[in-house]
Amino acid sequence: MRGYQTFKQSGCVACHNGELLGGGSFQKFGVFEQYTTKNLAEGRFAVTGKPEDKMLFKVPTLRNIELTYPYFHDGQVNSLEEAVQIMGKIQLNKEFTDAETADIVAFLKTLTGDQPKFQYPHLPPSNPNTPLPNPFGK
Ligand code: HEC
Repeated sequence: MRGYQTFKQSGCVACHNGELLGGGSFQKFGVFEQYTTKNLAEGRFAVTGKPEDKMLFKVPTLRNIELTYPYFHDGQVNSLEEAVQIMGKIQLNKEFTDAETADIVAFLKTLTGDQPKFQYPHLPPSNPNTPLPNPFGK
């Protein structure tokens, strides 16, 4: 509960909000400080070519975040503690204490649930009349 309060009060919810705690917008990654990494990407700019899309990334959902490391688009961060501290620093200009970080991480771990299950369709066995795949879509 303490971590949930810190998550809300420090402003994480400006971007990570709604039922998925994210997924709803593209936001700048590195609002107060630049994120530095070995293989820095340019974000949505790579798709649109618009200068205003530089370093915009889709805000990821935080559901099951405990299970989906490594973190960030470049997969350079392995621990949730470190990811939370980076987010505080570069997105909100906040230095969390170790206790605050542990609280937020404890809150994030309450978002762990069943992984989505996908049922694949069973196609009937092939026979001589089965149409061949047409790579040209004609
Ligand atoms: C200004 C918007 C914004 C704010 C505020 C923000 N985030 Fe983020 N968050 C993002 C974006 C965008 C990414 C994706 C970055 C990337 O993929 O490299 C992200 C990624 C993350 C990730 C890694 C997710 C993954 O799947 O790799 C975690 C964990 C996270 N944020 C937690 C937090 C916490 C905790 C706070 C508050 C301290 C916070 N965020 C504040 C926009 C924000």
